Amino acid sequence: MYMISKTVEKAINEQIMREENSSRIYLSMASWSERNGFPGAADWLYTQTEEERIHMLKLVHYLNDRGGMAIIPALEAPVAKFKSLLDVFQLVLKHEEFISESINQLYAVCVKEKDFTTANYLQWYINEQIEEESTVRSILDLIKLAGPDKGGLFMMDKEFSTMATAKRAALAQSGGANAVT
Ligand SMILES: [Fe+2]
Ligand SMILES: [Fe+2]
Repeated sequence: MYMISKTVEKAINEQIMREENSSRIYLSMASWSERNGFPGAADWLYTQTEEERIHMLKLVHYLNDRGGMAIIPALEAPVAKFKSLLDVFQLVLKHEEFISESINQLYAVCVKEKDFTTANYLQWYINEQIEEESTVRSILDLIKLAGPDKGGLFMMDKEFSTMATAKRAALAQSGGANAVT
């Protein structure tokens, strides 16, 4: 049976940890939004939590299928306090940029190890990151456009609900963690 190299296995396990961590960071943000009068943003962030969990699960399945051993890591508690909704989404963008960079590093490890199968598999994650960054940038534009007044933020929060519904539909259609990509 084909065995994935230890170097690639370790690098994928680090990404499993980061995707799980993303899920928990967004869960903390969702909870904050829910408590602070942004039900739409909370809806979107809770859905994002599910999506990151799927990103993690896909890598667990992939690694185990390739003869590696997925490690389910211990994680630190995520930040729980935020200054504003703008603050939350600025942190989301920063985090997604960090994740994009980490996927690129993982891809580089695979190429160096001549594991082109895994590199090919990671192409899905590379595309996903382009989409995630672009979505969060447009959300940030919306929040800035809405300004600090309640009316603007209320309208924008409704927009979030629409986006969350669309995201849930896309997740259901993609087949979740078991989808072949
Ligand atoms: Fe992710
Ligand atoms: Fe993400």
